[in-house]
Amino acid sequence: MTDAYRPAARFLHWTVALIVLCMIPAGLIMTTEGLPRPVQDTLFLFHKNAGLVVGVLMLIRLAYRSAHPPPPLPASVPAWQARIARISHGLLYALLFLMVASGFVRVTAGGFPLEGWDALGLPRFSKREALGSAASEVHEGAAYGLMALVLLHAGAALHHALVRRDGVFARVWLAAGR
Ligand code: HEM
Ligand code: HEM
Repeated sequence: MTDAYRPAARFLHWTVALIVLCMIPAGLIMTTEGLPRPVQDTLFLFHKNAGLVVGVLMLIRLAYRSAHPPPPLPASVPAWQARIARISHGLLYALLFLMVASGFVRVTAGGFPLEGWDALGLPRFSKREALGSAASEVHEGAAYGLMALVLLHAGAALHHALVRRDGVFARVWLAAGR
């Protein structure tokens, strides 16, 4: 087997992926018209609390990654594909941080609660409607970018797992040895 990501990096990858894959449908559903109020409130509660957890996990992940850089891809992966993988991983990090930051600004500048994070004393922006609306636009645009990239990313990973069977998928899968 080729070199794998360390267990902590794999754990962080799948924890963040699982939360984000629940948050995307939650975000899309909670913003639709005509939803029963308790359902909408519950989805917002989950989305905001979990979104900031993703922010914390991504900071830990970035710190961990700079201390333990990922292992090089196997030599069977052509250089241009390795380059696309590097760029798309960088974009995934950037978009996740942008989602968390724009969500945070949208909520606090819009004058809405941060739910559990308010109780923990997380600082907030003061209410500024224009800033809140701008952040809402950024959040929505970045969400569609993230969805497209996650689809490409998961598609490429499955291609490695099922067609090429070159050990790339196993590098990040939880059962990989090290
Ligand atoms: C991994 C991070 C996140 C992802 C993938 C994500 C995804 C989404 C998606 C797909 C939507 C629906 C599209 C839209 O109308 O904007 C949405 C809406 C929303 N999200 Fe997030 N979100 C994230 C983080 C956050 C955070 C940290 C907060 C706040 C603390 C937040 C608050 C909101 C709010 C308030 C809306 C409704 C926006 C509006 O209608 O103005 N999100 N999110
Ligand atoms: C929201 C969902 C996901 C996000 C945000 C995400 C994000 C990322 C990021 C940022 C990396 C690079 C990690 C690093 O080098 O520090 C990565 C690697 C990887 N991801 Fe995902 N991922 C998601 C879902 C998935 C899914 C569903 C699969 C499989 C079907 C997958 C398979 C992989 C594989 C195989 C790698 C390692 C690639 C390599 O060896 O260089 N990911 N992912």
